[in-house]
Amino acid sequence: MKALRCCNSRKALSLPLRYEGAYRAPSSAFVIFGCLALLITTSITQFTIKQLSAYLISTLGSYFYGQVPFEISNLHMLSYLDLSYNYDPDTREKFLQLKNPSLKTLVLNLTRLEVLDFSCINISSEVPGLLSNFTSLRLLLLKDCELHGAFPTKNFHLPNLQVLILQFNENLSGHFLEFHDRSTLLELLLGHTGFFGRLPSSIDKLDSLKILDITGCNFSRAIPHSLGKLAKITELRLRKNNFIGPIPSSFQNLTQLTFLNLNRHKITGSIPPWLGNLTKIEFLDLSENKLEGPIPQSVYKLMNLDDLKLGFNNLSGFLEFDMFLNMKSLTHLHLSWNYFSLVFGKTNTNATRSKFKLLGLSFCNLIEFPNFIGYQNELEWLDLAGNKIYGQIPKWMLNTSVDTLMALIIRSNFLTGFN
Ligand SMILES: *[C@@H]1O[C@H](CO)[C@@H](O)[C@H](O)[C@H]1NC(C)=O
Ligand SMILES: *[C@@H]1O[C@H](CO)[C@@H](O)[C@H](O)[C@H]1NC(C)=O
Ligand SMILES: *[C@@H]1O[C@H](CO)[C@@H](O)[C@H](O)[C@H]1NC(C)=O
Ligand SMILES: *[C@@H]1O[C@H](CO)[C@@H](O)[C@H](O)[C@H]1NC(C)=O
Ligand SMILES: *[C@@H]1O[C@H](CO)[C@@H](O)[C@H](O)[C@H]1NC(C)=O
Ligand SMILES: *[C@@H]1O[C@H](CO)[C@@H](O)[C@H](O)[C@H]1NC(C)=O
Ligand SMILES: *[C@@H]1O[C@H](CO)[C@@H](O)[C@H](O)[C@H]1NC(C)=O
Ligand SMILES: *[C@@H]1O[C@H](CO)[C@@H](O)[C@H](O)[C@H]1NC(C)=O
Ligand SMILES: *[C@@H]1O[C@H](CO)[C@@H](O)[C@H](O)[C@H]1NC(C)=O
Ligand SMILES: *[C@@H]1O[C@H](CO)[C@@H](O)[C@H](O)[C@H]1NC(C)=O
Repeated sequence: MKALRCCNSRKALSLPLRYEGAYRAPSSAFVIFGCLALLITTSITQFTIKQLSAYLISTLGSYFYGQVPFEISNLHMLSYLDLSYNYDPDTREKFLQLKNPSLKTLVLNLTRLEVLDFSCINISSEVPGLLSNFTSLRLLLLKDCELHGAFPTKNFHLPNLQVLILQFNENLSGHFLEFHDRSTLLELLLGHTGFFGRLPSSIDKLDSLKILDITGCNFSRAIPHSLGKLAKITELRLRKNNFIGPIPSSFQNLTQLTFLNLNRHKITGSIPPWLGNLTKIEFLDLSENKLEGPIPQSVYKLMNLDDLKLGFNNLSGFLEFDMFLNMKSLTHLHLSWNYFSLVFGKTNTNATRSKFKLLGLSFCNLIEFPNFIGYQNELEWLDLAGNKIYGQIPKWMLNTSVDTLMALIIRSNFLTGFN
């Protein structure tokens, strides 16, 4: 009991605790003055607590710290256990830890759990395989728990699992075996872990999936064609792995996609014209790959696209920049380090339609400062380095973004000063 204390005992705090049995107050919130520790006494555990959440408290600015009390392991009826985010968001210091009992011991008898959220608790152990017996589990949230070892693959096959979050456990490894049964998973977030191997083509069994995040893992080989069969996918966060080969043509069926990040792979081939059919897309990052050829005209039809990153590829061809100026949602555009020849219209009638915040046009073979920049008034970051711009910087250039601009990069040109 001494271990779990509340930092601020003066606040009246509301916990969504529900009781059955002697203390029947099923729908009302239970108000405590002070610490969760007062609740988790041996006397309270004789009631059938079904929900226990300390998250609410941490969102109110009070935190629990110390060891998660052993008594929680006696709450056999528990279906909802949330002790997440008892941490300092600035220093990322975790206030709660799970050492004695360990995660495995604590949950051993909590087999009715539907929701388990221990995000930002220092667990520092492996993920127990026994969780695969928790057939009611819908949400398993273990973000940033300092987990290590290999994630037991059978835990992927929990029959009712909808959300699995293991992000930011850099020493947690794991890989996918084949998926045999259809799955209820909606969100599978593994970013910034040590998961590796290939994405099996049976990944299409996860046919409810909406979000897949494997950012910064170590997956390799080709992106399986079958990923394009997950028609409900809205976010594919695949950044920074080692995928090779082209963007699968099956992705043209992912019409619900709003977010596609393929940054930093070894993806080859050209940008497919059918990208223009993914009309809901808001974020598209294909930078730092080996793509070549032109940008297909259809891309300019993506009117919801807010952020387009194509830098650091081998793309080429004439680019009529005015096409970008007609994309009314576009605020971030990164074209740097390719082999484009940019062409700017002489009259920028529609120039004020686009409100750029970020513009990366370094190494784009520019020979003068593009006119339209003078019409921008929300620019924060402008990179024109490594072009062939001669002479003086015209006054108009910074006319309008003077209040917002934080970075202006114009090195490696042939500039002689301000006009
Ligand atoms: C789990 O339940 C078994 C049988 O009821 C009991 O012997 C054991 O002590 C319990 N373990 C924990 C960690 O509560
Ligand atoms: C988590 O616990 C481990 C082992 O007890 C410890 O070495 C580590 O410093 C802790 N991490 C944090 C962020 O407190
Ligand atoms: C899962 O439950 C089965 C049957 O109750 C049991 O035999 C098995 O040991 C359990 N597995 C784990 C990992 O606890
Ligand atoms: C991961 O492992 C490395 C090497 O063993 C260690 O230095 C690092 O602190 C670990 N990180 C975490 C978050 O546990
Ligand atoms: C990633 O996987 C490759 C093999 O596919 C291996 O050589 C490399 O060491 C791995 N990198 C990390 C950081 O684990
Ligand atoms: C797109 O989906 C349709 C219908 O499921 C299918 O017939 C077609 O082959 C798919 N296209 C690609 C390129 O996978
Ligand atoms: C993409 O859209 C164009 C025009 O709307 C249409 O002709 C074409 O069939 C579409 N392609 C796919 C793969 O849906
Ligand atoms: C990119 O294109 C240039 C010029 O066409 C070529 O020299 C270079 O090998 C290409 N790089 C890659 C990685 O394909
Ligand atoms: C300006 O925008 C209108 C529609 O908003 C479009 O029809 C026209 O082609 C655009 N003009 C230029 C020069 O891009
Ligand atoms: C920049 O400001 C000058 C002086 O206020 C004005 O004459 C010029 O039209 C402005 N240029 C642009 C592109 O807005």
